[in-house]
Amino acid sequence: MHVVPGSSSRALAGKLATALGCDVAKAESKVFPDSERYVRVLDGVEEAVLVQNAHPDGNLVEILLWADALREAGATWVAAVVPYLGYARQDKVFEAGEALSIRPVAKALQRGLDAFVTVDVHNPAILPFFDIPAESVSGAPAIARHVKGRVDAVLSPDEGGKERAEEVAELLGVPWDFLEKSRLDARRVVVQPKSLAVEGKAVVIMDDIISTGGTIVAATESLRKNGASRVVAACTHGLFAEGALEKLKVCDEVVATDTVENPVAVTSVAREVAEAITGLR
Ligand code: R5P
Repeated sequence: MHVVPGSSSRALAGKLATALGCDVAKAESKVFPDSERYVRVLDGVEEAVLVQNAHPDGNLVEILLWADALREAGATWVAAVVPYLGYARQDKVFEAGEALSIRPVAKALQRGLDAFVTVDVHNPAILPFFDIPAESVSGAPAIARHVKGRVDAVLSPDEGGKERAEEVAELLGVPWDFLEKSRLDARRVVVQPKSLAVEGKAVVIMDDIISTGGTIVAATESLRKNGASRVVAACTHGLFAEGALEKLKVCDEVVATDTVENPVAVTSVAREVAEAITGLR
């Protein structure tokens, strides 16, 4: 088996190969001046585990090219690890006339693949859109490993993420809670005032995605009002759009897993992804 490093995920590909006890394939990927992608695998591969994000859009196209290149090179089994699956937040038709975006994305991505693994997909109910074995592994253990012994409580910024917060809390052996969040638009959220027993406590806010940072900033304000002594912002996927890391200076610390390469990707999901690949093979 070889791990094939896509352009978005070379660091995670290396760690995954170590966890699986296999080699990283020699591979080339580049972007043409007009922004089209090019990929080439230089090693012979029989079983291939491609690691490449489906965000932003150019990366998604790169997955299609890799599946084709690997089959051309003779691979008999191709799994894709897509650490961050873009478009997964549009997981239903919220308003008439919209696309259910993740459905066509899933249908397109699976072409040429035998198995699909992602991390903390926004809503696991979308996995049946794949007609091949598809699994979402949790980013919670990686975050828990990083903050263990340093926080007293875990908070989800919204009800939708409460199971993730609960999972981190159980791994840490600390209590957890969640806020009621309403989204005003793509950048602004409000959280309902809630009395939280966090006075003098170090709290980690656990979210699946940090994009603009609006959610975490609102949750941090609420925690500060309730007397939290330290606020750690943690997420599986650190997209950090529109200068979010600057806004997140309201937190004492910001941490993310390595599903997306960024300056605060300090903890790896390689172990959990390797277990999923081993189970699917
Ligand atoms: C939303 O349901 C997600 O779980 C995240 O809370 C959201 O995507 C974060 O976005 P932002 O950082 O832009 O507030």
